[in-house]
Amino acid sequence: MAGRNHSAWLLIATTLLFAATATAQQNCSSAKFTSGRSFQSCTTLPVLGASLYWTYHASNATADVAFRAPQSADGWVAWGINTGRFAGMAGSSVFVASQDGNGAVSVLTTYLESTAPSLTNNTLKLAVPAGPAAEYAGGAYTIYVTVALPGNSTVQNTVWQAGPLSKGQIAPHPTSAANLLSAQKLDFLSGGRSTGATKSKLSRRNLRGFHQG
Ligand SMILES: *[C@@H]1O[C@H](CO)[C@@H](O)[C@H](O)[C@H]1NC(C)=O
Ligand SMILES: *[C@@H]1O[C@H](CO)[C@@H](O)[C@H](O)[C@H]1NC(C)=O
Ligand SMILES: *[C@@H]1O[C@H](CO)[C@@H](O)[C@H](O)[C@H]1NC(C)=O
Ligand SMILES: *[C@@H]1O[C@H](CO)[C@@H](O)[C@H](O)[C@H]1NC(C)=O
Repeated sequence: MAGRNHSAWLLIATTLLFAATATAQQNCSSAKFTSGRSFQSCTTLPVLGASLYWTYHASNATADVAFRAPQSADGWVAWGINTGRFAGMAGSSVFVASQDGNGAVSVLTTYLESTAPSLTNNTLKLAVPAGPAAEYAGGAYTIYVTVALPGNSTVQNTVWQAGPLSKGQIAPHPTSAANLLSAQKLDFLSGGRSTGATKSKLSRRNLRGFHQG
């Protein structure tokens, strides 16, 4: 039974990857940002309707990042970098944008110790030279932040997510296929992303992690 389930997930993963390859060709450079911000590179992320925009500075190994993802006003979105051995939720340093009942947007910057994290603010395991800031417009959050790329490596395991609020608090994200596939290796220098084969293995590992967690 477990084996059959895994096969089904892998098929979904593969299908989504082919879709991702197609959508990645689209022009994301037409996106607009507030305060005159602009970015040199962008990529349409394979799931959750999200996009990532960035400018990499080789001189100091930092990246100015904008993460944009659709979400209802009573939900949260997050983007981050996993500094652990495996790409996935646990071991990620993330920026979580949400808003209160008055539409005031705030960002939680937190290190995820496990798949049941404490969500303690200001616990990141990476340096943040500028930001974060976030805004909500047109049914989408945008998170702006400058990160020092861990280990001075342009290749990072990036993660992103979207989930609901419960009584104004960040509640666990759904465990649909899309929510379990929201991780990928990204080269901030070339814009290159993980291949299909790597990604499939990665998703299976994530899935196993969630079952164990
Ligand atoms: C992408 O969009 C930008 C802004 O609209 C435009 O200047 C650029 O030429 C487009 N690039 C391609 C490859 O279509
Ligand atoms: C990062 O590595 C590059 C290439 O080795 C080097 O030139 C640069 O000084 C390093 N930057 C930092 C912040 O360590
Ligand atoms: C986290 O802490 C920062 C800095 O103290 C603050 O600006 C931000 O609003 C806090 N985030 C939340 C969600 O409380
Ligand atoms: C990193 O380098 C860029 C480009 O030279 C510069 O604009 C930025 O202020 C630098 N950031 C830090 C934290 O030194």
